[in-house]
Amino acid sequence: MRQSSRLGSALACQNKQRPPIWLMRQAGRHLASYRDWRNRFSFSTLVHEPDLIVEISRLPLQAYPLDAAIVFSDILLPLEAMGFHLVFDEGKGPLILNPLTGTTELHRVPEKVDLRPLHFLSTAIEQLKKTLSMPLLGFSGAPFTLASYLIEAKTHRDTPKTKRWLFEDPSSFQHLLFRIADLVAEVLVLQIQAGADAVQIFDSWAHSLSPTEFSRFCIPALERVVARVRKGFPHIPILFFCRNSALFVPLFAHFPHSIGFSLDWSADLPHIRRILGPHVPLQGNLDPSFLYSPLTEIRQKAQTLLANMAKDPGYIFNLGHGLLPDTPEEAVQALVSTVVESKGL
Ligand code: CP3
Repeated sequence: MRQSSRLGSALACQNKQRPPIWLMRQAGRHLASYRDWRNRFSFSTLVHEPDLIVEISRLPLQAYPLDAAIVFSDILLPLEAMGFHLVFDEGKGPLILNPLTGTTELHRVPEKVDLRPLHFLSTAIEQLKKTLSMPLLGFSGAPFTLASYLIEAKTHRDTPKTKRWLFEDPSSFQHLLFRIADLVAEVLVLQIQAGADAVQIFDSWAHSLSPTEFSRFCIPALERVVARVRKGFPHIPILFFCRNSALFVPLFAHFPHSIGFSLDWSADLPHIRRILGPHVPLQGNLDPSFLYSPLTEIRQKAQTLLANMAKDPGYIFNLGHGLLPDTPEEAVQALVSTVVESKGL
């Protein structure tokens, strides 16, 4: 990453100016311009066509003075390369039509995956990079969250069938996570090779686990991903997102690699900073629902967060989860402009 960018400096914990800002799900349904594209194309078409991926990734940058782009894609697409049939059903969210139905089905998850079906993603990132004057983030789902989609067949925040497998047969569950970890690592490498300056790994549903199971399953799988990615790209910044971060992130105290954390609103950022020390990038953590507040309160809330994290050279402003589809654009504008116009240290 070009360290000269604001995001690059914050990821290196060396930012001396105001924090950089980007927003999870910045390209999505809250934007009228996105909804216009969606009236013309299905979500599946938008995420599979390089020219469309480039257009959609740029929409939030045209709407707000953000400091980073994130490639418009979805964490579930690599599962298609593994042989799973994914559909994005209007109203129902993503569905896997041929899910894993039990612990005996591990053999359906290949150990080595041919990534050629994801060629559209590298093409899109290469094209997108040429149009950008700011850093580009790539991303992936984390092994546990991707396993939950393979087993639940849809979004299930409590991941009941996944946990059943985990407790019935921990050893095959561990194998499952490691196979997915290898895919995740390859998918991140593909994006980095194509030009992503940093990557974020989303473990969106890992908060269904207790800290004990999180330590036992999620952390080793993540360690495997990070080790593989860093083998080829020793300096690539990696951010990890999970819900319930206040509980889980301190468990990373002995993680052997240096990664940053994207925190949800359960975390008190200055407290997490004290626990993790000064060399860890921290990102977050406004509740996306707060953006339904009056604009003056949004500005005040942003100021409070900026004041709490003032003089923190490793802080990246963001939400604690993705933007909600009916968030008013004025609210996002008020948030982003408050951060951009702030003075920093
Ligand atoms: O941040 C960005 O702007 C990049 C785009 C992005 C999308 N999905 C686009 C998308 C990112 C980073 C994701 C990640 C993703 N996808 C996660 C992890 C982050 C999180 O939210 O926890 C998860 C769990 C998914 C799986 C997924 N994809 C769900 C649950 C849904 C349905 C959401 C809904 O509200 O309908 C999707 C579809 C999806 N992915 C949409 C977008 C913009 C909505 C599709 C539409 O236009 O209908």
